[in-house]
Amino acid sequence: MYIDERRAIELLNSNDIVALPTETVYGLAARFDSEIALKKVFKTKKRPSFDPLIVHVSHKSQLEKITASVSEAEHFLMDAFWPGPLTLVLSKKANVSDIITSGLDTVAVRMPKNQSFLDIIQQTAPLAAPSANLFGYTSPTLAEHVEFEFSGAVPVFDGGPCAVGIESTVLKIEETDDTLHLYILRPGMLSHHDITKELKDYSEKRSRVHFGATPASPGHIDDHYQPRNPLIVAKQSSTWTTGIHAEICKKLNLPEDTRMLGLAYTNDDPTLVARLLYSDLRRLSSEDKSYIYLTVGNDFFTEEWRGIRDRVQKASKCSVMEENGQFFIHNKLENFQP
Ligand code: TXA
Ligand code: MG
Repeated sequence: MYIDERRAIELLNSNDIVALPTETVYGLAARFDSEIALKKVFKTKKRPSFDPLIVHVSHKSQLEKITASVSEAEHFLMDAFWPGPLTLVLSKKANVSDIITSGLDTVAVRMPKNQSFLDIIQQTAPLAAPSANLFGYTSPTLAEHVEFEFSGAVPVFDGGPCAVGIESTVLKIEETDDTLHLYILRPGMLSHHDITKELKDYSEKRSRVHFGATPASPGHIDDHYQPRNPLIVAKQSSTWTTGIHAEICKKLNLPEDTRMLGLAYTNDDPTLVARLLYSDLRRLSSEDKSYIYLTVGNDFFTEEWRGIRDRVQKASKCSVMEENGQFFIHNKLENFQP
């Protein structure tokens, strides 16, 4: 069901939820101070309660409502990258609902780069919003993805295609006497290089970048962003053959008459690939009894592709590796290297 900005505001201000565009993916928004709406978000997405939400603000002054304290380094990064695809994990104010934070003493906050979203926050409140998809599946980058995902049951404001296409970079920063520790809890199209480069203007301290879930970001599970059709990843050199097809079908327990739907990201601009990834995975899931055979180039393994690699890894079922002229099918991206 498509709605306009005015209706979105009305619904949000009466304890309801709406899907809204951001520059990364569409979000399923609820006022941060409406427990009724927050519960609806989890119920609608079938999201487990241990996975905390990001709160979206339209102005830094709103941080007062949400955070206990914001360090100088955190302010600096907000000024550098907001509005934009950077989420900061901050110490939370006591009044922020445990539904948002999954009981953690931190809260994730970002300012999205989408004028409609920002206008709507201005007329409602800071909005908690996870991606507007069923838990575990591919995120939406078009309003029609949201329509399809919830069979029209979720009101959505159509803001066109999302420019970035994958979710924001989630960062926690800790400062010691001589070091800025950057914990990249979820990589995105804003890279740690972009962040450390900017921090050189903030402090002479060295930056140390840590990847992965320390300190833990509870929402991270191995299977996520999954398309409805299984995703198989292969290098450009591993051209699809009937032999590989047989191995894939065996590995995934698929009948031999399953169809292969090809997708190639070879020598592509990562910015463009990120923008198209979720649309492509959804498009190639509209036919039943098929799997997606994605081939990638060597650039897939470079730093600029880290965010995309993370999503492809979680969205994938298995990958094809050639070893001494023989093909092996591994789980996810295990042993998948240039
Ligand atoms: O680009 C985005 O970030 C999109 C748009 C809608 O803003 N939102 C999004 O939300 O991707 P969601 O719920 O799909 O992912 C939120 C991520 C989860 O991985 C969660 O674990 C992490 O942020 N997160 C949220 N609060 C956290 C916290 N207090 N500490 C650590 N990680 C947190
Ligand atoms: Mg999500």
